[in-house]
Amino acid sequence: MEDKVVLLTGAASGIGAATAMLFASKGYKKMALLDLDQAKLEAVATKCREHGAEVMCLFVNLADFDTTKGVVKSVIEKFQTKHKICFKTCFISKQPQYNYVLF
Ligand SMILES: NC(=O)c1ccc[n+]([C@@H]2O[C@H](COP(=O)([O-])OP(=O)(O)OC[C@H]3O[C@@H](n4cnc5c(N)ncnc54)[C@H](O)[C@@H]3O)[C@@H](O)[C@H]2O)c1
Repeated sequence: MEDKVVLLTGAASGIGAATAMLFASKGYKKMALLDLDQAKLEAVATKCREHGAEVMCLFVNLADFDTTKGVVKSVIEKFQTKHKICFKTCFISKQPQYNYVLF
């Protein structure tokens, strides 16, 4: 698990936050957390770091596809690995709707 990268969208709250903390508690060490909400995302990252994870916080509007692609590329460059675990968090209660895996 040490070399696996976890990339989570919607990681600042709800399912995404719970999933981030679950991965961190299971020993995943390389995590990229994406969300619009900077304050909440930092709080989740702090909890993940308490488990020893290296966490990138990426504040991005996933509705902006080009920016999101660039952010994903930066995650790949940062962690320099081909091993990735991709997770999605969809959100249907807010606009714009978005629901797909980035990789
Ligand atoms: N919680 C449940 O029990 C449950 C059950 C079934 C389905 N769902 C669905 O799963 C999804 C996630 O649920 P949740 O409870 O975790 O929701 P949530 O609102 O707690 O989390 C969604 C996260 O996505 C972020 N976000 C919203 N728009 C964004 C954007 N454009 N770019 C980047 N980040 C953005 C928000 O800041 C928030 O942190 C929702 O669509 C919900 O309807 C939830």
